[in-house]
Amino acid sequence: MINDGNTKVIARLHKQLSPRALNIYNPFFEEAGINAVFLLFYNSDPKPLVDGIKNLNFSGAVTVGFETDADFAKLVDEHDESSRIVNRVGFIKNENGKLKGYYQGGKGQLLSVQSVTSVAGKELVIVGAGNVVKSLLSEISKLANLPKSVIVLNRTISKLEEFNKYNFVKEVGEIKDISSIRGDVLINATHLGGSVVDNIFTEKVVRNFNAVSDVTFETEDTNLITIARKLKKKNATGWDMFTYQGLVVLETILDIKIDPQILKRHVIAGLSQTVK
Ligand SMILES: NC(=O)c1ccc[n+]([C@@H]2O[C@H](COP(=O)([O-])OP(=O)(O)OC[C@H]3O[C@@H](n4cnc5c(N)ncnc54)[C@H](OP(=O)(O)O)[C@@H]3O)[C@@H](O)[C@H]2O)c1
Repeated sequence: MINDGNTKVIARLHKQLSPRALNIYNPFFEEAGINAVFLLFYNSDPKPLVDGIKNLNFSGAVTVGFETDADFAKLVDEHDESSRIVNRVGFIKNENGKLKGYYQGGKGQLLSVQSVTSVAGKELVIVGAGNVVKSLLSEISKLANLPKSVIVLNRTISKLEEFNKYNFVKEVGEIKDISSIRGDVLINATHLGGSVVDNIFTEKVVRNFNAVSDVTFETEDTNLITIARKLKKKNATGWDMFTYQGLVVLETILDIKIDPQILKRHVIAGLSQTVK
């Protein structure tokens, strides 16, 4: 943090005292020589927090404690397409006094996958149908070079229908069908391997792919990642995704390029302390 009067303030908004990631972004700013600071503000009512961003002319905010709250989305002045697609605000950018809502999950996971393998012309299998997947498919649809095909699997199949609108989605189906499916890249975007014990991603499943990508940040060494490493498959972990979704937030709010390698080092150091 340089703190010379031009320091950009990014807020972490939460319902309660929750300092996770302060120990990631502040040391990262220090090492990268970025004139910015990441500070926690908390209140069970998000309105005074959002008003504060505008009134105090902060550069932006990460909405961590409120990102699953659909009502929170009404507090900002406008929405980027990434936010409209999931009807959630993952972060806010203050654009000359107007607060614009964005969502970073899909682009974060796509960049994480692309850090280990290209998706152009590839066969992708995506597991999940939540906000990350909605956002990921939207980001894929914007690529100049699309994957050859995408299969989306989920536990609840009724949530998959809407994905048929994408021409590149070849098939949707139940998670239990995964053992008969082959592809280039396997992407997990569910709670499996984090808060939920994973009995789905077995060695037999992972053998059918060349690369895997995981999502949880509760641990980096999930069952899926451990199997992928054992089988010498390319792999992007949930901590890589955490890094890239952070990169999306910082590049958007601060209008600068972020070095993912330096940021990943701080993600590892910070999450190792706070995620037990
Ligand atoms: N690393 C990062 O930086 C980062 C950033 C954002 C999110 N995440 C993680 O990404 C994951 C997805 O986030 P999201 O916002 O998309 O969540 P979401 O909208 O709540 O969707 C959750 C997904 O997980 C599936 N799921 C939950 N429990 C399951 C179980 N027992 N068996 C099989 N599938 C199960 C759900 O299936 P149903 O539809 O059948 O319920 C759904 O597809 C979360 O674990 C989140 O913590 C990580």
